[in-house]
Amino acid sequence: MNFYNENRYKAMKKTLETMYIPEPSAEEPIEIDENALFTFAAWGDPQIFHGTETRIRNFAAACKDIANMRGRLDAIAILGDVAEMGAECEYKIAAELLNSVSDKFGDFLCVTGNHDIRRRNYARQRGVFRDFVLSVKGGIFENHSGGYYFSKDYPRCRFILMGSDTNSFEGTYINSAQRKWLEKEITEAEKQGKTAFVLNHQTLKWTNGLPVTWGGNGKWRGSIGIQSDKIREIFERHNNVVFITGHLHYGFSIYNFEDCGCFKALSVPTVGVVNHGSVSDDSQGYIVSLYEDKIVIRARLHAEGKWLDKKLPGAYIECKINK
Ligand SMILES: [Fe+2]
Repeated sequence: MNFYNENRYKAMKKTLETMYIPEPSAEEPIEIDENALFTFAAWGDPQIFHGTETRIRNFAAACKDIANMRGRLDAIAILGDVAEMGAECEYKIAAELLNSVSDKFGDFLCVTGNHDIRRRNYARQRGVFRDFVLSVKGGIFENHSGGYYFSKDYPRCRFILMGSDTNSFEGTYINSAQRKWLEKEITEAEKQGKTAFVLNHQTLKWTNGLPVTWGGNGKWRGSIGIQSDKIREIFERHNNVVFITGHLHYGFSIYNFEDCGCFKALSVPTVGVVNHGSVSDDSQGYIVSLYEDKIVIRARLHAEGKWLDKKLPGAYIECKINK
């Protein structure tokens, strides 16, 4: 398949222009708490695909909800698997939808998922992904040792974006250079009293409901993979990490947030594909706000334009920041 296929792009574009897209309610818009130090949307797995309408519809509905919001997010973070086939035509649709609401967010932070990198030559696909990120207004991408990983510093927090160092069909391979870099980035942020939001596509083994949240299969499937323990060791040497991931396509539940003591693990449902579990609504996402002494994480049903009922598991998470 070509990286960029004009006919597929045109077909998706026509779908987008003619299909029914849910109209999120404007009665309960996302609002920015002015006391928050930093607020961002965390979305998992749009997985835009030229072969199905539903993912385009779901992602477009989420963007509509962002369009209705009051105020402006500091950032939108996507936790990988932007494009099902890693094809340019799919990225182009995703970028157009994000750019249609670019006045509603500052930076665009995005890590690669297995779908983004698994089908083609690593170096070439890195270029395709970089071009996508930079085509979104506010897109951040830094060249770092030929890999996908880099960080972005803010006054009260640091985002650390991890990315596989090789093609991987389902997991992530984090080489020793990246692990060393990861440790350095977290250490620096910790010394500066900053929360380290570490973004990666897959969570850790035995975390966020694995293996249940990956259909109960195997000891590592659904996680980073064989290097999961090495990454956990790094997090456990510090006190300031909030590890944010996607990949599981598991709806709001008891599994989204896990307090692992010295670090926290937040698994985000999919904004594009079908969510598993008892809350299976389309277009799910989290709105995360950092405060002086805590982090507040709210579950958003974007297609409906509503917050998930606060009484339900995973709907409203408040955790103290480790000092
Ligand atoms: Fe994935």
